[in-house]
Amino acid sequence: MISIPDAESGHVYLVGAGPGDPALLTLRAAHLLKTADVVLPDDLVSDEILALASPTALIIPVGKRCGQPRITQAGIHALLLEHASAGSSVVRLKSGDPLIFGRAAEEIAFLREHSIPFAIVPGITAAFAVAAALETPLTDRTRASKLILATAHHAAGKLALTPSWSGASPNEATLVIYMPGRNFETLAQDLIGSGIAPETPCTAVSCASTPEEHIHITTLAELSSPDVGPAPVLLLIGPPISKPEH
Ligand SMILES: C[S@@+](CC[C@H](N)C(=O)[O-])C[C@H]1O[C@@H](n2cnc3c(N)ncnc32)[C@H](O)[C@@H]1O
Repeated sequence: MISIPDAESGHVYLVGAGPGDPALLTLRAAHLLKTADVVLPDDLVSDEILALASPTALIIPVGKRCGQPRITQAGIHALLLEHASAGSSVVRLKSGDPLIFGRAAEEIAFLREHSIPFAIVPGITAAFAVAAALETPLTDRTRASKLILATAHHAAGKLALTPSWSGASPNEATLVIYMPGRNFETLAQDLIGSGIAPETPCTAVSCASTPEEHIHITTLAELSSPDVGPAPVLLLIGPPISKPEH
């Protein structure tokens, strides 16, 4: 029997909800969800997962769809502060793992600044669900000694508008691209321009781990937007994939 503590009054939990399938939640995530007073989920967190929250929990969606903020990051911080200082236990529920492309750094800094006790609960990141869907290891001792998690999306006003791919060549590496955007041809050209061979295997997986999962296997040169399923999409560049498309 595993004993998992309930969500504590006045505490914030940055919890990973995994890639979509509720069965891929950790036991701790499921228990915190069940016992928290307030849940602040991102857009990618499914209704099935939210249904695991206590029926009395206050659920406030705080997703920022397609970069068009319905709520600002400062607004999320204000909600964390308001509810934790009122003595509620708060689950801040993020898709995948909260520490991978999840703006956790800003929330951690805010919680520290306001002396709000918090804990981080890891989740299964999308890359791992994609690898499972493709039945392909992300590392391989004969051909992929490196695993690179990258994003094609930068914060507005930070760094360049589009990331520089130089140095991202998946020579003996698997390159995983989160938030690839919808212009796959341009992204492929940028990657080829950075020195990645056009014939490098490239797979786009949409909605991994959910009933809507869609896999498109191609090469970088032939990656075409209409063949890629709906968001969320992850691109895997590097290892040859043998699993048939569906
Ligand atoms: C804001 S990032 C959050 C990543 C998340 N923290 C994680 O660890 O998976 C959102 C991106 O993750 C990827 N993603 C999340 N869930 C996915 C899924 N089920 N299938 C494919 N890609 C997914 C997509 O690239 C999406 O644009």
